[in-house]
Amino acid sequence: MSAVLVVHGGAWAIPNDLAQASVEGVKAAACGGFAVLKAGGSALDAVEAAVMGLEDNGVFNAGHGAALNTDGEVELDSIIMDGRTLGCGAVSSVKNIAHPVSLARAVMEKTSHVMLTDRGANLFAESIGVATVPTEALVTELERTEWKKNKTYMAGVVEDFNAQWAHDTVGAVAVDRAGNVACATSTGGIRNKMVGRVGDSPVIGCGGYADNLSGAVSCTGHGESILKVTLARLILSHIEQGKSVAEASQLALQYMGDRVKGAGGAIVVSPSGQWSATFTTERMAWAAVEDGVLWYGLEPNERKKEQLSQ
Ligand code: GLY
Repeated sequence: MSAVLVVHGGAWAIPNDLAQASVEGVKAAACGGFAVLKAGGSALDAVEAAVMGLEDNGVFNAGHGAALNTDGEVELDSIIMDGRTLGCGAVSSVKNIAHPVSLARAVMEKTSHVMLTDRGANLFAESIGVATVPTEALVTELERTEWKKNKTYMAGVVEDFNAQWAHDTVGAVAVDRAGNVACATSTGGIRNKMVGRVGDSPVIGCGGYADNLSGAVSCTGHGESILKVTLARLILSHIEQGKSVAEASQLALQYMGDRVKGAGGAIVVSPSGQWSATFTTERMAWAAVEDGVLWYGLEPNERKKEQLSQ
């Protein structure tokens, strides 16, 4: 079977001045992740590589370019999951780590736990030789400016969340030639979030889930809403009941909107290589590679195509 990789750069009201860079960023990450699959790498290797690329890109809210908390600090969350074994690793509220997705993978592969948080996650990183980076190395000028503007944010006002919830999350899903699926998600969370706030991204079944029996999902959007409806598992449960990947995503996102007034997006891949990129926000930058073709979009229902050189 042919391999497929899909990435997103976050579902939110992406302003025009970030639109082009967001699209270029997801296209580059999708091609980078797909190169791993093409070279015979696993779906797990591919989603990690794609998300590392997005974490390095200051345009996106993950790794370098992450949103800042009320103290003006970066606190990062990430998850990675292997659909072959249901192996999963996650980190939350980590600081000074350039690639939280790789630390999440180390939690999966080198510990008997699923999630490490805050100081414990940083201590684990140190124990396995993961280098830390200075705080300012992860902070962009844009995020420092936004932090100053939003200092008055009162956490927890659901009706108000669109005002602060911006610049959201990156993720990748893939199926490799062996039919194994994987997902990865990484984020800086909500701008001016409370210190210690953890969103959906590192929570299994919410920010991501992967199971060879149904598919892999990476979610983006308002974390508190995604947590309440366990969005990734909800999408897969619709697939298990016979819906297509696109129908399942639409149904689950619609439910989240109706039930808790939350908006967001999801990318999905099935073990047979069906894929979708769906969102209920104004925009979501996404890209997918399959069969030598790069697909991408930003606006609702936009689906552009580029032939890749083989
Ligand atoms: N969706 C990312 C967050 O809310 O933290």
